[in-house]
Amino acid sequence: MPSQGEIVVGLDIGTTKVCAVVGEIADDGITILGVGSVPCRGLRKGIVSNIDWTVRSIKDAIEAAQTMAGVEIRTVYAGVAGSHIRSQGSDGVAAIAGGEVTRTDVERVLEGARAIPVDADRQILHVLPREYIVDIQDGIRDPIGMSGVRLGAKVNLVTAATSCVQNVIRCAERCGLVVADVVLEALASSEAILSDDEREIGAAVVDIGGGTTDIILYVDGGIAHASVVPVGGNNITNDIAAGLRTPMAEADRLKRLHGCALGRMVSDDEEIEVPGVGGQKPRRTPRRVLSDIIEPRVEEIFAVVRKRIEDTGMLEQLSAGVVLTGGAVLLEGTTELAEEVLGMPVRIGFPTGVRGITQLVHGPQYATGVGLLKYGAQAIADDQARIAAPAHSVTRVTAARRGAAEEDAESASPKSQSKFWEWLKAAF
Ligand SMILES: Nc1ncnc2c1ncn2[C@@H]1O[C@H](COP(=O)(O)OP(=O)(O)OP(=O)(O)O)[C@@H](O)[C@H]1O
Ligand SMILES: [Mg+2]
Repeated sequence: MPSQGEIVVGLDIGTTKVCAVVGEIADDGITILGVGSVPCRGLRKGIVSNIDWTVRSIKDAIEAAQTMAGVEIRTVYAGVAGSHIRSQGSDGVAAIAGGEVTRTDVERVLEGARAIPVDADRQILHVLPREYIVDIQDGIRDPIGMSGVRLGAKVNLVTAATSCVQNVIRCAERCGLVVADVVLEALASSEAILSDDEREIGAAVVDIGGGTTDIILYVDGGIAHASVVPVGGNNITNDIAAGLRTPMAEADRLKRLHGCALGRMVSDDEEIEVPGVGGQKPRRTPRRVLSDIIEPRVEEIFAVVRKRIEDTGMLEQLSAGVVLTGGAVLLEGTTELAEEVLGMPVRIGFPTGVRGITQLVHGPQYATGVGLLKYGAQAIADDQARIAAPAHSVTRVTAARRGAAEEDAESASPKSQSKFWEWLKAAF
């Protein structure tokens, strides 16, 4: 179990902002101690495109979080996104050495599952077990301690462009930080917003940020698909700026204050004031004009999401529907339009499962930061459980620790279901 007072930090390096969330892990849960969120212009569509700008934003966010939390930040769990992210199914099989499944058996079977050819410029980010099979019994979540002779695993491998992962690590290291792990942002967001019930009966998490729309599908409690579409809220802002001939900052402000994703929710007599460009006078425009610009773009984003889900063949298995998160889903009318295009129940996911100054992270735009913190807490709990009972728990080999060069040589391991974490989930 994590020792009293252990500090964990989630670092969400997003297209519009860098957000550092500091938490204290105790046996009875996670307390948010501080948050630092600052604008960032160093990324394009989820990928670092300007190291100096990104480093500056990380420094500012970390400094703000440090000051609020009153602790010194050294180690972080960092997020990664971008359309270079891919996922694919794989499986492995191994003999159960002593007649009872141990951690070593699980590690071996997962090592087998990840032994697939990966392009030289890509690396495996996560090995996510979907189910284990012991002899003829399938659908097993945690096989440790079970009797049998043959252990199988079906997993989902998430891969990423090595250069994109290394740039995230490099930016953090230039701020004097140690990256404990690099985590797929949608996976982190899911940790913060998805309930166990939703994972069990099947759900899609769709995180619409500024530059990317991240999709992750849960089927039968495991992750069945992950991908990233390079569109987000910034595309809506661009459309508004071009359509209404107004500066970008004003377009973003109009979107937040008056935007609506469904034109029919806006009455015809509402008007808004649109600032002009190049010193031109502001003018009054029907609010309906704004929603007419926004609606096709949001519709397009959900059409792409639907197509991605359909292509996996898992649409029918998502009985819990879709959980939307990310800052862009704060746009009025988004849930309604999503339900129409996706044909499924839709809710907006706010971060849960933490206490302390939660009002600072109470918004879908903080799901990734809070999720990274929760992921880090789980990783620490896993490590400590492994030390306490080496043969009967599993740990993970992290992307950051592994490094690109050793990537193919080493094995990864899944999350163990530590008692602490189970308790934590049940408690919130
Ligand atoms: N109230 C609001 N209404 C509409 N859009 C909003 C609102 N608040 C934030 N947004 C939009 O959300 C987007 C930012 O979301 P978020 O903070 O989740 O992105 P990010 O994490 O920086 O980017 P990404 O995850 O794509 O790399 C911006 O496009 C912003 O305009
Ligand atoms: Mg984001």
